Amino acid sequence: MAVSRGSHFFINPGPTNIPDRVLRAMDRGAIDFNGAQFRAIAEECFAGLKRVFKTEQTILAYAASGHGAWEAALVNLFSPGDKLLVVESGFFSLNWGMRGESFGLEVETLPNDWRTAADPAKLESRLRDDRAHSIKAVLVVHNETSTGVVNDIAALRRAIDAARHPALFLVDTISSLASMDFRMDEWGVDVVVAGSQKGLMLPTGMAFTGISARAIGATAEAKLPRVYWDWRRLLGGTSQSVWNGTAPVHFFYGLQEALRMLEEEGLDEVFARHHRLAEATRRAVRAWRQNDGPEIYAIDRRAQSDSITAVQLPEGYDADKTRQVCLDKLNVSLGGGLDRLRGRIIRIGHLGDLNEPMILGAIAAVEMALELTGVPHGRGGVQAAMDYLVSEE
Ligand SMILES: Cc1ncc(COP(=O)(O)O)c(C=O)c1O
Repeated sequence: MAVSRGSHFFINPGPTNIPDRVLRAMDRGAIDFNGAQFRAIAEECFAGLKRVFKTEQTILAYAASGHGAWEAALVNLFSPGDKLLVVESGFFSLNWGMRGESFGLEVETLPNDWRTAADPAKLESRLRDDRAHSIKAVLVVHNETSTGVVNDIAALRRAIDAARHPALFLVDTISSLASMDFRMDEWGVDVVVAGSQKGLMLPTGMAFTGISARAIGATAEAKLPRVYWDWRRLLGGTSQSVWNGTAPVHFFYGLQEALRMLEEEGLDEVFARHHRLAEATRRAVRAWRQNDGPEIYAIDRRAQSDSITAVQLPEGYDADKTRQVCLDKLNVSLGGGLDRLRGRIIRIGHLGDLNEPMILGAIAAVEMALELTGVPHGRGGVQAAMDYLVSEE
């Protein structure tokens, strides 16, 4: 294996770069998770998470990847045969729905092209047709990490309300939370699914659910079997009081530091920084687009994600080959296409602990890799990104 020097550029859409401050905060001995010291750290973390979720309601945490929070949301709310409506946006939306099927739930997909945001009018119309209110919940991914398309959660909530439908509203924020604005209470979201390894800048392995009072009410009726995820067991007052097993103390050390960092920067500035870096990336891709080069996969500009840009290569060119050259020759790691997009796209993750020189380095590496793998493209992507960033100063 070739030896490489200098920083490894990790530009994946999750996991993301872990700030040194978070790593240092985790570099400590264990403490008793039943003791007062841990309780104080956990309380600070749950209070901070509420500010990030923008909720006054309940947040529960699990030692798990995001898949755990997906599953927790399903098993705590539904009974075999219940019907879910999954708003299609890409690989992750369908995958969440498939998990429901595995539990014996009936899953209907509201079909959508992966390159555009979900249409609230279509959701409203489907819910209006469901006069018997057989649909128990609407499931949406806020930021579809597999495509770089953002769904408008407030507009989808308005669609549910306009149809006067009682379905619970479940939203996956795994690649949007702490990178893009999200408002659990204002947008009437009943369950928020989140993970540690993206905007929260932690290692993978901790997952969260924000749970509305209505969802807590619904859990009493749910008949799906559950033990580890059982909200009834985990809940005590307004925050998690009991762990199923040992609490992940080191994650809490890291989370405490990450939340402090987010608050020092200010959430609005965090979102503005993500927007700047995303827009710089988009300017670069638009420059490459000349000469029938690569293009941004998300078609509608308003739905282009501030945490990940999917770049579609021209027909006949292997995106995985370009990605591999980027890694092998330039030590820059990028995300690849999932499912039907395998080999078709490169995913540039611009979320978490990232700044201007880091994204410019990544863009330069992609531009070089396009050249090295003979992919037709316009030149000057890095220049276009720099010009934009300078104009924003
Ligand atoms: C939108 C979305 N949902 C769910 C998941 C699954 O989360 P995890 O890989 O942490 O289990 C991911 C992972 O990238 C994701 O991006």
